[in-house]
Amino acid sequence: MRPTVLVNVAMSADGKISTRERRQVRISGSLDRARVDRMKAECDAIMVGIGTVLADNPSLTVKSAELREKRVQRGQEGNPIRIVVDSLARTPLDADLLHKGNGIRIIAISERADAARVENLKRWATVIQVGESEVDLRDLMQILGDRGIHRLMVEGGGRLIGALFREHLVDELTTYVGNVVIGGDASPTPADGTGFLKEEEFVRLHLEEVSPLEEGILIRWTVEKKWNNQA
Ligand SMILES: NC(=O)c1ccc[n+]([C@@H]2O[C@H](COP(=O)([O-])OP(=O)(O)OC[C@H]3O[C@@H](n4cnc5c(N)ncnc54)[C@H](OP(=O)(O)O)[C@@H]3O)[C@@H](O)[C@H]2O)c1
Repeated sequence: MRPTVLVNVAMSADGKISTRERRQVRISGSLDRARVDRMKAECDAIMVGIGTVLADNPSLTVKSAELREKRVQRGQEGNPIRIVVDSLARTPLDADLLHKGNGIRIIAISERADAARVENLKRWATVIQVGESEVDLRDLMQILGDRGIHRLMVEGGGRLIGALFREHLVDELTTYVGNVVIGGDASPTPADGTGFLKEEEFVRLHLEEVSPLEEGILIRWTVEKKWNNQA
């Protein structure tokens, strides 16, 4: 069975997750960042696309020492398993997520990845080859489920999230809407890529929770059953 997939994203009041230069920007405040840290600490694994690794160089660690300690007391690693969806094995060898904090790292690649790059990455991470030209997200989820990953948090970016929605692999979407306007046709949004054309294809969500947080709003939706394939 695939893991339960929880997408978390921070977007501006006008629905952008970054600038047109795909530069990391601060959309939420310290309370929301603490919430994200708690969410991370409650997951078995955390996933990002290679676009996010190249743009933001995130470490994907749990920031609070107390939360890491609680995980250890529960018999887990201090940090969740960190996963990069990276068809061509472009993850830089000095990426923070490969070096900061303890815990397992997984790089999911496709058959197109360069063999020498893959060999280098294997020094720091477990490499899973799944998919011909790009990472096959459905098969990857199955493999992650078989490895005992039950709760998976996805932290972006837009293309990966868009593809997960297209594949009906998302169970929950939490969006923090911050009090900034970023604008721009080319600025990434929470679900990029090809998107859907027909209304009947749109993924339908069920509203679970809305709460004001600092100068923004936190919204939690679950994905309606028809649009979420629990294989
Ligand atoms: N505000 C937020 O909450 C937040 C969070 C995270 C990121 N961001 C922002 O998001 C931007 C990065 O987003 P992004 O859309 O450029 O990159 P992304 O979603 O992080 O990564 C997308 C890449 O993943 C790879 N990939 C492999 N298999 C795939 C598949 N089956 N489906 C989709 N992608 C697949 C592709 O590259 P290959 O073909 O090379 O494999 C693709 O270009 C940055 O600006 C970052 O700052 C914002």
